[in-house]
Amino acid sequence: MLKGKKIVLGVCGGIAAYKSVELLRLYVKAGAEVFVVMTRSAMEFVAPLTFQTLSGSPVHTDLFNLYQEREIGHISLADRADLFVIAPATANVIGKTASGISDDLMTTTIMATRAPVLFVPSMNVNMWENPIYQRNETRLKESGYHFMEPDSGFLACGWEGKGKLPDPQRILEETRRLLSPQDLKGETVLVTAGPTREKIDPVRFLSNFSSGKMGYAVARAGRDRGARVILISGPTALEPPAGVEFIPVSSALEMRDKALEALQDATVIIKSAAVADYRPAETADRKIKKEKKGDLVLQLVRNPDILAEMGAVKGGRILVGFAAETGDLQSYAQSKLERKNLDLIVANDVTLEGAGFDVDTNIVHFLTPDGRVEDLPRMTKDEVAQRLLDKVLEIRRAGK
Ligand code: CTP
Repeated sequence: MLKGKKIVLGVCGGIAAYKSVELLRLYVKAGAEVFVVMTRSAMEFVAPLTFQTLSGSPVHTDLFNLYQEREIGHISLADRADLFVIAPATANVIGKTASGISDDLMTTTIMATRAPVLFVPSMNVNMWENPIYQRNETRLKESGYHFMEPDSGFLACGWEGKGKLPDPQRILEETRRLLSPQDLKGETVLVTAGPTREKIDPVRFLSNFSSGKMGYAVARAGRDRGARVILISGPTALEPPAGVEFIPVSSALEMRDKALEALQDATVIIKSAAVADYRPAETADRKIKKEKKGDLVLQLVRNPDILAEMGAVKGGRILVGFAAETGDLQSYAQSKLERKNLDLIVANDVTLEGAGFDVDTNIVHFLTPDGRVEDLPRMTKDEVAQRLLDKVLEIRRAGK
């Protein structure tokens, strides 16, 4: 979701500079235009050509390079940015910025920009804990600069402790947050995601193909836009997004209990989970052994419909459901919208290519109680999540 955004990526001289290459790749993949600035010592760790090749733009390295100065200049670099990300940020550059020293291209552009600046420090643990460094960080935070905490672990210098550059994926997420409008501030968004597992015996269960990708994308987008997010998820292979309240569950009954509890705090509920409609009437305590001959018949009982239960008590909350269908999409979705008392249903035909469970894209339709249907083109699940939250805001602004 960084399409059209201009990011200045500042790389300082630290061993973690090699991770900035991966960060740059993630930014470019997300659609951002990236301009790289390197300090002189950064070039001792990674060659500028690596960044130049991946960003498709010349790397800016020297304040007094006349050619670059005429063409671009540190002021124009500072002006064009939507966001500055300094990763890795060394104690030296942070210290200089805190003291107002601008004696090279990196510190001059940081000083000259009006864009938000994110420092991602990485250094030796003792340097990070040094009160001089900590004071500099506090001063910059007080002036509105953003910081990420370093990770703990085994450091390249041989020490163990805080000082590692966070994973580039996490820096990407923080970048997205800083570039998002904070238009969901004050909302508490409850998201359910993934499949449920209905236990047959200690080693077997019934489930479905839901990957959780859609719900996790909604949770991340809500967090980025300033909402408090509670994510209740069935078992998936996905990393729980940082900065959301994560509640793992397994069965539909467990999901129901946790969801009804979280409902009290929620102002918006988005139920993207693929809840199993049935569960085995009995769960065996011990592994079911096969009989010598014949088939096994499993008796299933109905699970409660969590969304319908929420619809009955929702009050002023905005309630959004999903409808995954394999035919007659519109009429099934319309009837679910009415039956479950929803404000919006997101319908998709899971048999279409580029839609459904385990892919990164979806083709969805928004149906609202006024009978309107909006058909969206195929887009990534991250984009669907943003459009879905735009729609939620539209409903909120219309007086809900
Ligand atoms: N849902 C739920 N609890 C259930 C079943 C479904 O909360 N026991 C929610 C899902 O999270 C989704 C919506 O209801 O938001 C629609 O789910 P779907 O499986 O498409 O529909 P069902 O209501 O189960 O209807 P059917 O099985 O007839 O398609």
